[in-house]
Amino acid sequence: MRIFTALLLVAFATLASAQGSPRDVHSYAQPDKVVIRDMGLDLHVDFGKKQLRGRVDLALEWIDPSARELVLDSRDLSIEKVTGKRADGRWFRLEHTLGERDPYLGQKLTISMRQPYDSVRIRYATSPGASGLQWLEPSMTAGKTHPFMFSQSQAIHARSWVPLQDTPSVRYTYSARLRTDPSLMALMSADNPPNEPRDGDYVFRMRQPIPSYLMAIAAGDLVFRPISERSGVWAEPATVDAAHAEFIDTEKMIAVTESLYGPYRWERYDLLILPPSFPFGGMENPRLSFITPTVIVGDKSLVALIAHELAHSWSGNLVTNASWNDMWLNEGFTSYVENRIIEAVYGDEQAAMERVISQAGLQREIKGMSKAAQVLAPRPVPGSDPDESLSAVAYDKGAWFLGFLEQRFGREAFDAFLRGYFDHFAFQSITTEQFVSYFNENLSSRFPNAITAKELDAWLYQPGIPASAVATVSERFMVVDAARKQWQEGRIAAEDIDTRGWITQDWVRFLEELPNKLSNEKLVELDTAFQFTSSQNGEMLMRWFPLTVRSGYFEARPAMAEFLQRVGRRKYVLPVYQALAATKEGREFAREVFAQARPGYHPITTTSVEVVLGDKK
Ligand code: BES
Ligand code: ZN
Repeated sequence: MRIFTALLLVAFATLASAQGSPRDVHSYAQPDKVVIRDMGLDLHVDFGKKQLRGRVDLALEWIDPSARELVLDSRDLSIEKVTGKRADGRWFRLEHTLGERDPYLGQKLTISMRQPYDSVRIRYATSPGASGLQWLEPSMTAGKTHPFMFSQSQAIHARSWVPLQDTPSVRYTYSARLRTDPSLMALMSADNPPNEPRDGDYVFRMRQPIPSYLMAIAAGDLVFRPISERSGVWAEPATVDAAHAEFIDTEKMIAVTESLYGPYRWERYDLLILPPSFPFGGMENPRLSFITPTVIVGDKSLVALIAHELAHSWSGNLVTNASWNDMWLNEGFTSYVENRIIEAVYGDEQAAMERVISQAGLQREIKGMSKAAQVLAPRPVPGSDPDESLSAVAYDKGAWFLGFLEQRFGREAFDAFLRGYFDHFAFQSITTEQFVSYFNENLSSRFPNAITAKELDAWLYQPGIPASAVATVSERFMVVDAARKQWQEGRIAAEDIDTRGWITQDWVRFLEELPNKLSNEKLVELDTAFQFTSSQNGEMLMRWFPLTVRSGYFEARPAMAEFLQRVGRRKYVLPVYQALAATKEGREFAREVFAQARPGYHPITTTSVEVVLGDKK
């Protein structure tokens, strides 16, 4: 069978097995009937009540002219009033019903009407426990004097602060007016003019259509420092200098990505540095990536996070996964592009180290996963929390797959293909099958011998790591590995290992390749030589603390408790809780620490920790 035909067959077989249209199982919306095209928000950001309150106007496009219902997603919203605007400009009251609360999806909000209205206005308020918002007391900020609030809408939390069609398959433009305490600055995933006076009344416009998971809002004691004409950092005054120095290469990154994949289409690219309770490393909110402060370690060694969030301006924000099942189209592409940016700005060696860590992490993680979860383009799973199904598969297997394609087709052809792909699907939301058919038509048919249908099928639809995967080798890590081995065998003392010039990735490699458990003596030796326990680097601590837990090295406990209380980044705290949860004594200690830390955690982190500690299914 010729490769091209075979690839098409793979695509058709999977399309057929998806049974009809690929509906988003994580949304109640019915975008085949009506879609939101523009949104107007007018909200009070009320810190006293921990509430957003006001109204949203939804401009609608009716796809099915016979439809008379607008079905929206909502979670823990109180809906006060719904009106519809008729063609003559008059507003009419509309009936609405809120469905039963589903633990994952929230409540279906159905608005019925006798005729298809162009525009619907909903007056509403959020609840203090909204899953997509975190309200911080001043004590939880860097400056300790002002409160702070921020959103995290991905994957399905936008519905907890705006009633909307909460599916990545729908895109709309938006404008907003926010009113809040005049001592605070408010920002959104929209235009944030750097010189906006701080007066408690702010207006925003987002001219490019975006999906709901990219809606974002934040308010706090925020100041701006420019990096270039079109980029800069927003942060609390206490953090802004360190952040500015760490992320000074942002403009270089934008320029490099443009040279690879075409113009940056979002005008400004700014960074917002959040308090340490931010549950993720970063979030690619358009024009304003949200960034954890935990990557500010002083030597730029963790700026791949910025490359990653910036890369989403092409993979994700421009070309978006149609549903969370096709998340690898967002995260896999982005992780691949991230590494290309790192290579271009910081060189081959840095990029190779980061790929080795990613591939080794994937191999480790896959071992404990079900076969179904190891698949890059999995079948939809209704009744699940997309936050809890986040794994290395979409990111690291996805990036590895694209690296494989690059090797086989050659960098020149592959770069041109990707650039064409971003242009072709710009501002659209697509499925894996759409990617496959575009790939068949534009790349694989031109180089019919580069890969086989079986190889493609293995990458996209089979579990495990395909036989065709070529693992990256880092020469620098060979040196680290050799030193570690010598030390383990007692041939060299820890303090005599030549760690001059080691950066975060070297330490990560060193820690990851250590055995599961070490003797107390060995741990004391390491800790004395390298001061792991008192490190401030979360990438190191998220690996060191679990090792101390598995080995019964209790000296690290006070610092571990302090870390779990200071930082709420899910990726960092979960491995520590997981290690503790493995024994009865450890679990008790973890529960005590969690009880203390919990008021400072974001709802997303809280849910994940509860799952790990067995307090939630
Ligand atoms: N978009 C993600 C964060 C996300 C994914 C939030 C899924 C909710 C659901 C963001 O771009 C991301 O991937 N962040 C990573 C950083 C990265 C360098 C792998 C993170 O937060 O660790
Ligand atoms: Zn990402």
